[in-house]
Order: sequence, then C-alpha cells, then structure tokens
Amino acid sequence: MRITRQLKSMLALLIVMLAIWSGAQGEARSGEDVYDDSCAKCHGWIGSMIKDAPRTGDTETWKVLQTKGLDELVNSTINGFGEMPAKGKCTECSDAELKAAVEYILEESR
Ligand code: HEC
Repeated sequence: MRITRQLKSMLALLIVMLAIWSGAQGEARSGEDVYDDSCAKCHGWIGSMIKDAPRTGDTETWKVLQTKGLDELVNSTINGFGEMPAKGKCTECSDAELKAAVEYILEESR
C-alpha cells in the first residue's frame, strides 16, 4: 500500500518534469535569437559586404524592400530568394521563427 503511494507520487513528479521539459523544448525562439544565429552572418555589417545581402540597419534598402510587404519578405525567407538560401539555412527554424527574424531585421532597419 505504501509502496503504491510512493510510486504514484514519483510518477506524478515525473509527469510534471516531462511537461516542463517539453515546454522548454517547444518554446519558439525570439526573432533576435534566430537572427543572431542564422541571418547575421550574411545580413550583418561584414556579411552584407561579402554576401551582397541587404544589410540590417540600412534604412533606405529595407524601406524599398518593405514595399513588397511582410508576407512576401517572409515568403522569400522561407523559400529562398536569389542568392538568399531557403530559411537562411536554418532548417530547424519554424515559419513563425523566420517571420520573427524578418520582423527583427525590419525593426532594426527603421
Ligand atoms: C548565406 C547568406 C544569407 C543568409 C544566411 C541569410 N540571408 Fe537573407 N538574403 C541574402 C541575400 C544575398 C539576399 C539578397 C537576395 C537577392 O536580392 O537576390 C537576401 C535577402 C533577404 C530578404 C529580402 C528578400 C526579398 O524578397 O527581397 C529577406 C527578408 C531576408 N534575406 C531575410 C533573411 C533572414 C530572416 C535570414 C535568417 C533566417 C536570412 N535572410 C539569412 C543572404 C542571406
């Protein structure tokens, strides 16, 4: 009887730990994190010179690109565009994370 009760509470603890763990795993990363990990190497200061990518912070360039609309820019990011690789090579990134990264670039380029 006592053993069963202990087992039950251990099982409950295990379930709680699993729930916390899977929650942490599934949490979407911020646009800034995705950008730093996957986009900065081409869209940052040095990357933009080497890779000829529109530089983050270049207000004029992004003002023009933004006329395509956010959806189109996100679409280019997910599927690739010209020299820009699909998903910025972040194969594990979700569409929502990629969208957040585009929004981050636009935010930094106002
Ligand atoms: C390997 C280099 C590289 C990486 C990594 C990269 N980009 Fe790009 N990106 C480019 C280049 C080059 C262009 C310009 C493409 C063109 O105009 O032909 C571009 C263009 C874009 C555009 C404009 C697309 C359009 O429709 O004009 C967006 C938005 C963009 N990148 C977002 C991102 C985001 C977000 C990431 C990270 C998830 C990322 N890029 C990662 C090289 C890269």
